[in-house]
Amino acid sequence: MANYTLKVRRYQPEADGAEVPQGAYWEDFRVDLDPTLSVLDGLLQVRDREDGSLGVRCSCRAAICGSCGVKVNGQSTLACKTQIGDAQTEANRAVEGRHASRTLRPGGEPITVEPMGNMPVIKDLVTDMESTHWAKVRRVTPWLLDDGDPPERERVVPPDSMVDITQTIACIQCGACVSACLSMEADPGFIGPAALAKAYRFVGDPRDVQTTERLHDLANDPHGIYDCTHCFACIEACPKGVAPMDQIMRLRRAATADEEIDDLNNGYRHEAAFTKIIEKKGTLDESLLLQESYAFGLKGKLIPRLSAIKGLVTSIPTAIRGIRTGKMRSLSKLIPGVHEKLPGDAQESVKRIYEHAEEHHQQINLYVQGEEELEPEPDEEDTDHPVEAGGEAPESGRPDS
Ligand code: SF4
Ligand code: SF4
Ligand code: FES
Repeated sequence: MANYTLKVRRYQPEADGAEVPQGAYWEDFRVDLDPTLSVLDGLLQVRDREDGSLGVRCSCRAAICGSCGVKVNGQSTLACKTQIGDAQTEANRAVEGRHASRTLRPGGEPITVEPMGNMPVIKDLVTDMESTHWAKVRRVTPWLLDDGDPPERERVVPPDSMVDITQTIACIQCGACVSACLSMEADPGFIGPAALAKAYRFVGDPRDVQTTERLHDLANDPHGIYDCTHCFACIEACPKGVAPMDQIMRLRRAATADEEIDDLNNGYRHEAAFTKIIEKKGTLDESLLLQESYAFGLKGKLIPRLSAIKGLVTSIPTAIRGIRTGKMRSLSKLIPGVHEKLPGDAQESVKRIYEHAEEHHQQINLYVQGEEELEPEPDEEDTDHPVEAGGEAPESGRPDS
């Protein structure tokens, strides 16, 4: 057994300000637990022994029901899946990282526990997931859309054709990814990682008959698949390995490569611009990205849409900031040719990667296959092609990221 301090972010809506503060505040509690027990066990000990008014939501205590989502030491996670000993180590490490010279408090730094982010708080650690999570899950039509009369028994499909969506089926709707999502902080209207992972559950299902309609909807929604900034936060937060960002990338791939949806958000053109610039220049030349994204194939070949012109104009302040900070080259240096920062024969190497990708187009799914299968056999190693990913793709299913 060991002693820990839980520093809990509290909010009690009924508080009158006399005995309990109005608004949010921090409160420390000491708990006595085996280090292998969970942060949730610690919170329940507080509620049992010290303060029965502590609001915390839980049910299974086994990372199955998805109801105990919180932030521990600032990271969105499940309280029942986080061992308190590990949380203590993290809390200490964070302080040591911030203040190298500071001596840790005897018994360790407080473990902070907060309600999930991007959601209104109802009470203490209990958040309202309706508007930020469930409404968005409903937004993506989370059920199978078929045609015709239902079959006498079930709709039978080959097991292989379901392999690709296994990962999304593992979601327990805990909301940890929503809590961690940086795009949702900037745009609360973003459909979000959990709901989009759920959308891929049906886009990737061979029994669904409205794949194209679903993809058009999600690509053209200003808060849809192109609102994700590819920050990986949801992948880190997800306690079930769903990797929501990967599912969003699969949706994008299906929308662009499979359906060729030239969407109103310019996502298709932006993605194509990335690929084209890197192939041509050997690296991402940000100074070309705006023009290629909004007026793809400029130099008179394509006339940009009105929405693209609007996007281009509204991006000017970003471009100026990019030039000022050195992220983008200035217009005077916007000349054709190799990027000045590209070393040696790197451009040729990049070209070889493109050629290799064209020749050996592979779809891999680490969740299904496991990373060890990506290790090439010694006699299969190909030093001419150092980018070889290896591994077999599922026989059917969508592309992976
Ligand atoms: S990768 Fe996309 S969906 Fe995931 S947290 Fe970042 S912005 Fe949100
Ligand atoms: S994708 Fe992961 S983090 Fe997001 S709701 Fe599902 S299980 Fe929770
Ligand atoms: S209590 Fe069910 S997931 Fe934590």
